[in-house]
Amino acid sequence: RWPAKVTIKEVGPRDGLQNETAPVATADKIAWINLLSESGLSYIEVTSFVHPKWIPQLADAAEVAAGIRRKDGVTYAALVPNERGLERALAAGIDEVGVFMSASETHNQKNINKTISATFPVLEGVVKTAKQEGKTVRGYVSTVFGCPYEGAVPVDQVLTVADWLFAMGIDELSLGDTIGVATPKQVVDVLAEVLRRFPAGRIAMHFHDTRGTALANILVSMEMGITIFDSSLGGLGGCPYAPGASGNVATDDFVYMLHGMGIETGIDMERLTKAALFIRDKIGRPLSSRYLQTISSS
Ligand code: HMG
Ligand code: MG
Repeated sequence: RWPAKVTIKEVGPRDGLQNETAPVATADKIAWINLLSESGLSYIEVTSFVHPKWIPQLADAAEVAAGIRRKDGVTYAALVPNERGLERALAAGIDEVGVFMSASETHNQKNINKTISATFPVLEGVVKTAKQEGKTVRGYVSTVFGCPYEGAVPVDQVLTVADWLFAMGIDELSLGDTIGVATPKQVVDVLAEVLRRFPAGRIAMHFHDTRGTALANILVSMEMGITIFDSSLGGLGGCPYAPGASGNVATDDFVYMLHGMGIETGIDMERLTKAALFIRDKIGRPLSSRYLQTISSS
């Protein structure tokens, strides 16, 4: 019914920090990523090479990528919106690039300043060059379960974008509940359509926990054969171009649940907690993860 092993893709240093307005020092980001590398995570999205004016918090992307201690067996990834971003990511020696777009027109426009149809040729060029450079490429679709501007998003729009991205040559697709509106039945319905076309091994789920439904959504996704999930330590995160969006499902809550169910992650809870306490202290306020609250109060 449930998988024996789950792959967790830690997006805290990117999705988590991009939504923090107070700047986090570059040295602290590097120290945090180094702690994450030591926790047993096999994949860390360390930053994004977007326009620094759009996401000022991640303007130090190149310094972060250059400063981290890379551990064997860990994939260090970053988001890239266009060719300029890819050039910067390649220069920084990123292992895997993530391209991203939305299933809804208005969020795509607000987030990357283009229509959906104008985004396809841009990403096609990025994927092609990245592949020529020997990189793997991850695609993200945002607003899969709802858009902050348009409300409900028809599943056909998700499938159209997914078809395009796979046709371009992406290796894996992450389906984003950008504003955390999904409930388990909707997840089952959307995944049924997606899995009719693409193998479960190439689909990841990316749940924000805005309304507390993320772990339930993960549970039903696992029951449908999904074994790759994105999460953010402490529950940091959100898209600054999606009003009302809050953090991703917290990696620590998620790992707690998986280990309790006997599902392997490769992660050492004690080291993960150390990394969570480190970034909580740098951010300077309690984080939303529930697991961390039990640690802090003890
Ligand atoms: P634009 O203004 O339309 O860009 O922004 P442009 O192509 O017209 O270029 C304008 C200038 O910016 C040019 O410089 C470019 O060189 C420069 P000029 O010639 O004027 O001197 N430029 C860049 N500089 C550095 N790095 C770059 C870059 N690109 C252009 N990469 C753009 C378009 C896509 C760049 C902008 O809208 C942008 O950066 N958006 C990013 C927004 C973002 O990061 N959002 C959050 C991530 S998505 C997310 O969180 C969702 C996800 O978590 C999944 C989920 O939860 O659903 C993934
Ligand atoms: Mg996100």
